[in-house]
Amino acid sequence: MTHSYIDMLASFGVHSAHPGGIDFSKQCLKNEQIDEQSVILDAGCGLCETSAWMADNFDCEIYALDNHKHMLERAKSLLPKELSSINLVNGSVEKMPFSDETFDLVLSESTASFTNTSETLSEYYRVLKPGGTLLAIEMTNSEADNDIIRDYKSFYHINELYSKTEWVDALTNAGFSSIVASPVPPNKGFTQLSPSENIPAEHIQLLNHHQNLVEKSNNKIVGYLYRSKKSSKS
Ligand SMILES: C[S@@+](CC[C@H](N)C(=O)[O-])C[C@H]1O[C@@H](n2cnc3c(N)ncnc32)[C@H](O)[C@@H]1O
Repeated sequence: MTHSYIDMLASFGVHSAHPGGIDFSKQCLKNEQIDEQSVILDAGCGLCETSAWMADNFDCEIYALDNHKHMLERAKSLLPKELSSINLVNGSVEKMPFSDETFDLVLSESTASFTNTSETLSEYYRVLKPGGTLLAIEMTNSEADNDIIRDYKSFYHINELYSKTEWVDALTNAGFSSIVASPVPPNKGFTQLSPSENIPAEHIQLLNHHQNLVEKSNNKIVGYLYRSKKSSKS
């Protein structure tokens, strides 16, 4: 059986596995206009740390979607109270089980990078209401050398590792406008972990491998927030 980075995140119970962590997400969300009419999607929610915080802080409707069954099971067992008010959905961001123009805000915290990115961005655009906002906090290649790019792609099982320009082009191609790219500050402090009782040895190796990869990248793979809009209908 092949174990993936995402399997490792689920078994170690990594609560906020994206650039900037939960603190940066809170800061981004506090800058948005969210009220009781708002419908929000946490796309590739992982353990639902951000959804749980939104449920505690905003009186809005929240959907959290992920395609990793073990991740969703762990989210349900770790956050039973918080998740009771969240619509937890098992599905793929590349073909989402939602109607067109459902959401006011889509949050993609290190998710689109792990998928067929252009398909996912088109899906985000489809499910947003006119005038809706995409907050994508995603891994970005900032002049990493070819060896590091190759190692990242192989470790994460991804086909693309976009530069800032490539992200902006991909968002534009998906239909988005008013795209603002902002660098994510380095994570402060430690990421919260809720490890499973039985962690496979392969996952400990993957965690160490990941740590080495991040150190080797020497800040050439960074996080950016891409805030983008779906135009309002004229
Ligand atoms: C790096 S983790 C980030 C998780 C979470 N957003 C966070 O910040 O903690 C990427 C997440 O995207 C999910 N994912 C990857 N491909 C997906 C797909 N095609 N559809 C839905 N979720 C996907 C993974 O299962 C994982 O939970």
